Parts: sequence; C-alpha cells; structure tokens
Amino acid sequence: MMALPRTDAVEHGDPSADQRAFRRCLGQFPTGVTVITTVWQGNPVGVTASSFSSLSLDPPLVLWSIALASRSCSAFRRSEHFAVNILKADQIDISQRFSTPAEDKFKDVEWRPGCLGSPTLPGILALIECATEAVLDGGDHIILVGRVRRYARFPGNPLLYAQGRYAVADDHPRLLAGPAPPSGAGGKRQARDLRLMGLLAYVEMYASDAFDRYRQSEGLNLAQSRTVFALSAADALSMEEIVRRTVLPPASIEDALPGLVDRHFVAANDGAYALTDAGRALCSRLTGHVERFESEHLNGISKQDIAAARRVLEHLYERLRPA
Ligand SMILES: Cc1cc2nc3c(=O)[nH]c(=O)nc-3n(C[C@H](O)[C@H](O)[C@H](O)COP(=O)(O)O)c2cc1C
Repeated sequence: MMALPRTDAVEHGDPSADQRAFRRCLGQFPTGVTVITTVWQGNPVGVTASSFSSLSLDPPLVLWSIALASRSCSAFRRSEHFAVNILKADQIDISQRFSTPAEDKFKDVEWRPGCLGSPTLPGILALIECATEAVLDGGDHIILVGRVRRYARFPGNPLLYAQGRYAVADDHPRLLAGPAPPSGAGGKRQARDLRLMGLLAYVEMYASDAFDRYRQSEGLNLAQSRTVFALSAADALSMEEIVRRTVLPPASIEDALPGLVDRHFVAANDGAYALTDAGRALCSRLTGHVERFESEHLNGISKQDIAAARRVLEHLYERLRPA
C-alpha cells in the first residue's frame, strides 16, 4: 500500500480490513442530525440520519442514505415522500429515540402530517418536505433523492454529530477574541487582550483537547472513557442503559464496547456489561488524570481567586440560562 503522507495517524489502512476503524475515520467529518420521516401503510416511520445533504438548488434537490439493514428501509424505498426534520441542539432525546429500533418511535411525540403526509416533529430547527425523486443503489445503503416541495426554517442552534458524539455549534474562539491585532504586530495574542467570552471559549477548547490527550494516553476514545465511567457507577448495565447514561448514540457504544472487552476492561455476560478489576483500575487512572489536570493547571492560583472565578461563572450561568 502507498505510504501515508503523515505517519502520526491514530488509525489508517484498508477500509475493508476494519470496518469500525473506517467508520471512526468517517466520523471525523461533522454533520448535523435529522430525523427523516415518512408514512407507510398508514403508520408513521422515522429514523435518525446524519447522511442528509443538499444536492441542487435548481431544481431543488436533497439526498440522504439509509442502511438496507434498517427496519424502515423498505418503507422509504416504497413511499413517495419523506420529510427531513433538522434537529435543534436540545433535541438529543429525539435523536436517541429515532436511532433505537422500537415498535412505536412516535409514541407521545406530537407530530403532524406535512404537506405530502410525512410526519413533521415539534421544536425542530428546519423542515424540508420532499417528494421522492429517485432511489439509487449505494452499496449497503440506498440513496434517496428528494425534490423539495416546501421548507421552513426556525430560530435556534443545530444539534451536531462529530467523532461519534453529539455536539453544539459554537462560534470559533477567534471570532469571540475581539478585533485582530494589526498585521505585522507579530507574536501570539496575550490572554489579557482577549474579551471575556473569547477567553472562556479558548479555555474550553484547550481543556477539551487536554482531556482528549489523557484519553489517548490510555488508548481510549471518548465513547470508551464515558462507557467506563458509566459502568463504574453500577454492578452491570445493558447496552441500552449504557446508551442512556452516556448520552451517546447507540452506534458509538456498539463501537466502544468490543475494544474494552478485548482489552479485558469490561466483561460481557448475557447482554450485561461490567467492569473487570483491570477496568476499575483504568477508571481510577482516568479519575486521577482529571484530578491532576485540576491540580496542575490551578497550581499557583489562590483559593480566593479560584472561588471568585467560580462565582463569576455561576452568575453568568444563571443569567444566561434560558428560562
Ligand atoms: C446521529 C446519527 C446519525 C445516523 N445516521 C444514519 C443515516 O444517515 N442512515 C442510516 O441508515 N442510519 C443512520 N443512523 C442509524 C439509525 O438511526 C438507526 O439504525 C435506526 O435504528 C434505524 O431505525 P430502524 O431500524 O427502526 O429503521 C444514525 C444514527 C445516529 C444516532
């Protein structure tokens, strides 16, 4: 195989050799989250999908793909319409519900039929109602192309999906940092030159990178470390319960568990998962990393200053939190 342009890849290789690793690589590309719906034989059908994409403005076309293995696949293949419900940042529960196979995903959801009959969900960020224009083969998926008949856009922020976990779209810290220094000023911007919101955004971004390095030093990704923490709080958990406690999509937990079992951190028994002794030791190392992070980075700052910074953040939290 051709040499990689860089040698510091976390994972690389032939996509057919390790499908999970390939999927993790695809997960480096962030997307929004939608619930795509239709009606088949009088029943509402819906799946969480991140494969949605715009295709053409004139004519107005969009596309998405659904796995042949999905229970809803034949409904979408045969129905003549679908609706794309683009989710808001506060709709993780809806995403989780429609990504878990269930008899009645619409139970207690106040949906309404849209202009072509496909269910429209409440509280969404945007709605795109389509007549099915084409159904194409796409390997182990089918690609659905829709001609947009009606759209609606609502205020709010999108729910994002990146690297196997939910995320929110924030302004990049550089946008919050205040005016750029004059060109030629040279050197990095000093912390004291940043606006408060820019400071907060940078600290949050750097801290998140630092935590990621701790996980990597243990050979774990975010889903695996969250699974370990979830299991540390119980004797044993089912896959569904791990999904619920970690707030991660089912596919991320399905991806995370085999590696933890192979490395003997987790034991699987009859559909229940539990930490082994090695898993509990791993959990205390992870906790140790967090504690070290705090003590290393807060070292040299007085208790009063830390308490004052905390008070400022608590005030901001209370004042900015929506009612
Ligand atoms: C964020 C996210 C994005 C997803 N995107 C897709 C997708 O684009 N296509 C797909 O077939 N499944 C996707 N899935 C998985 C389906 O939602 C999941 O397999 C669901 O159980 C299918 O429902 P069904 O088996 O009742 O048909 C996604 C899941 C999540 C959590």
